[in-house]
Formats: sequence, structure tokens, C-alpha cells
Amino acid sequence: MPENRIMLDVLRGKTVSPPPLWMMRQAGRYLPEYRETRRRAGSFLDLCYNPDLAVEVTLQPIERFGFDASILFSDILVMPHALGRDVRFEEGRGPLLTPISATEIAALGGETFHVNLEPVYETVRRLRTKLPDETTLIGFCGAPWTVATYMIAGHGTSDQAPARLFAYREPAAFLQLLKVLADHSAAYLIRQIESGADVVQIFDSWSGVLDEVSFEAFCVRPVAEIVRQVRGVHPDVPIIGFPKGAGAHYGSYRQKTGVTGLGLDWTVPLTTAKELQRDGAVQGNLDPLRLVAGGKALADGVDAILKALGDRPLIFNLGHGITPETPIAHVEAMVKLVRAHR
Ligand code: CP3
Repeated sequence: MPENRIMLDVLRGKTVSPPPLWMMRQAGRYLPEYRETRRRAGSFLDLCYNPDLAVEVTLQPIERFGFDASILFSDILVMPHALGRDVRFEEGRGPLLTPISATEIAALGGETFHVNLEPVYETVRRLRTKLPDETTLIGFCGAPWTVATYMIAGHGTSDQAPARLFAYREPAAFLQLLKVLADHSAAYLIRQIESGADVVQIFDSWSGVLDEVSFEAFCVRPVAEIVRQVRGVHPDVPIIGFPKGAGAHYGSYRQKTGVTGLGLDWTVPLTTAKELQRDGAVQGNLDPLRLVAGGKALADGVDAILKALGDRPLIFNLGHGITPETPIAHVEAMVKLVRAHR
């Protein structure tokens, strides 16, 4: 592996200045070239499972902005789909799934799991050969809790009340669901690594709605299990955990799960981020709406992060995914600001 993949250096504890830079959801609707490919693809899932087109959209932000890392184009909800659940994406409505009942959990999975995900592995293989040597390739999955919230509610909600209630009313079935998801997510990440991913990230977008006991049981433990299984096979591949909204729980998350890098959402104070950096690399945490606004709001946000965190291992990123209304000129301005840092 080339020595010049700077994101890997940072995850192994090195300070690199200017820091490596990429954006969550960097291939997406704010790019006209993405919208054009998306029109040719048919449904959103067709795009995720079409290696020709998935490679094309993954490379678009790399070609345009020269980011230091490329993230596989797919979605966290290919997991329930590959496990045999009905998953659709409807224009303007987001994901729609058939809600799972407690009695259906035992039937999840089966022999077709990796066969269903083969197009994703093929996309990763092709990406590693097409990307510049110095660009880090990131594979990913959703964390069991976050994937479970969509499987139970059948759609996005603001507080994940359906999944929380299910977890309290049907604790045995719910823990069984998390276990199925953790085991299959670990197997999925291992295959992505074996196909060429240099780093993997676990997205736990809904960590922020849980009480302390549930955070430990539903977020920490399943992610720790994934880390344990992936490390058992690939001890040297860095794993980034992104428990969005984890707030006061961020402090112990890295130690308890064993993740290498910690993704921070934009509400994490930079003083806290600096403390978290003592234990390893952090990634984040620009408010995506500063990137929408541009100008001084953007410059101040970038500057504050680089001042507070730039002298320790940092991967510059947004605190959540880029939104479709973001002007491309603002992304270009952010790249310039970050790359000017010394
Ligand atoms: O970061 C990247 O560029 C890689 C691709 C990626 C997508 N989704 C593409 C996508 C990644 C890493 C994800 C992760 C994902 N998907 C998460 C975790 C991160 C987060 O955003 O919190 C979640 C919760 C999902 C589930 C999901 N997928 C939702 C809720 C939606 C609808 C919301 C929306 O923006 O429309 C999606 C659709 C989706 N996934 C799009 C993209 C580019 C937009 C759909 C389209 O192009 O039609």
C-alpha cells in the first residue's frame, strides 16, 4: 500500500498538515453530474447495485475536487435489502421498507446474502484500480441500531419512537435483530476490505435519541462486536465510528467499541473534540449548513476547526452529510481554505 495515503497516516496517529479532507455524502444531488447519472440509473437501489454507474458516481467528487478519500457509493439500507427485506426509495420521501415484526426476525439472512451484495464488492474492486494511488478508499455500513430503526418503522422518523418502543416491548427479539445485523455487517465489511477498501466507517446516525442504558446496549455493544469480528480477520485496517448525536457518550465510545477514528457531528464542542483527539484521530465536524451559506459563516467554521484540532490527528469533514442545496462554489472555497492550512 503506498506510503502517501495521508488519511491512513492520520488514523495511525500521525499529524498531517493540511489535514486529509473528504465529505460525507460527497457523491450526491448537489452535483449536476450525479443527477445526470442518477437519471440514467432507474431507481436509487439500481444505482447502488450497478457497478458501472456506482463507480462513475463515486469518482465524480474525486475528479472535481481531488479529495484525499473516496467513499464507496452505496447506502446503509442495502443491508436489510440483502437480508431479504423489501426496501424502496421514493422520490422526495426517502427510504420505505416493510416494517419487520418480532416473529420475522429469525427468518433474516440466508445463503444469498453475499450473492446479493456481490455488485457492491465488484464496485469496490473496480474503484481500487481506478482511484489515484494516494486516494484512500472508504467502505462502510450502517450501525445495527440505525439500520434497525428503519427496519422497524419502515421509514425515517424524527425520534425513532417506533424502534425505541419495539426495543422496550420485545427486548429478546430486538437484541436478536441487533445480533443478526452486527454479524452480517462484520461479514459485509470484511468482504469490502478484501475487495480493496483501505478503511471502513460505521454510520450510527441515530445514536442521539437513546438514554444511557440503551446507548450502551444498542449502540456500543453491537459496534464493539463488529469491531471485534473485523479486527479478528484484518487487525490493521482502521475503523471509523460515527455515533451522530452521541453528545456526552462520545467520551467513552472509542474505548468501549475499539474504533480507531471517531467521527464528530457539528454539535460537539471543539474543546471536547480536542480532548477526544488525545486518544486518536477525530473526523469532522463542520456544520453542513455553513457550507450551504458560504462566505464568512464557512470561513469562520473552517478556521475554528483547524485552529482547535489542526495540530493533532485530524480528518477534515462535515459534521453530517452534505445537503443537496449546497453550491459547488462553496465546496471549492472550503477545499481552498483547508488546503491553505499550515
Ligand atoms: O457518502 C457518500 O457519498 C456515500 C454514499 C452514501 C449514501 N448514503 C448515498 C445516498 C452513504 C454513506 C449513505 C449513508 C446513509 N444512508 C445513512 C447514514 C448517514 C446519514 O446520512 O445519516 C443513512 C441514515 C442512510 C439512509 C438514507 N439513504 C436516507 C435517509 C436517504 C434519503 C435522504 C435523502 O437525502 O434523500 C437515503 C438516500 C441516499 N443515499 C441518497 C444518496 C446520494 C439520495 C437519494 C437519491 O440520489 O435519489
